[in-house]
Amino acid sequence: MTEVPKRPPIAPPEEDPNVEAPGFASPPCLMHEVDPAYFGAMPTDELVQLLNTLLEAERAGVRVTAAYGAEAADPAARTALREVGIDEARFCAMLTRHIERLGGAPSKATGAFVDKALAVSGDAPRLDFLNRGQGWVVKRLKEALPKIADPQLHADLYDMLEVHERNIARCAGLGGRGQAG
Ligand SMILES: [Fe+2]
Repeated sequence: MTEVPKRPPIAPPEEDPNVEAPGFASPPCLMHEVDPAYFGAMPTDELVQLLNTLLEAERAGVRVTAAYGAEAADPAARTALREVGIDEARFCAMLTRHIERLGGAPSKATGAFVDKALAVSGDAPRLDFLNRGQGWVVKRLKEALPKIADPQLHADLYDMLEVHERNIARCAGLGGRGQAG
């Protein structure tokens, strides 16, 4: 009588290739939890620091454009300064929103630019001084943008860069010297 060969033992589920992989307790893609620095982008704490520096600069911009606008002799300069001030305030709100979204605390400080700016007198020297401050912001943005991975923040900072370049050109046309930084 022929002996029936014994069936090989059934593999336990974790070794059986026919058994589907067990579910994961957390989603398999954890990219969203990885610090952007891992991918060569700016680390989050450095990013928050940069956004706070820009926030302080824009807050200074709101104060300076209001003070300059109130005292400008040229009506075109008054209008331009009021509109530049509206842009500065808009960027304060945008930067605050991103800082909070990244888990940071928005700075309450105002850039030291204000005191220096208020010491300048005359429309043209003031527009020139304002443009130096705006040029500084443009320089910081150009340095930072290639290191920003977050698409929404990148788009908002790119908009901020373009608006600053436009405002610099506008103030330069009114007597400021134009680009600096
Ligand atoms: Fe600004």
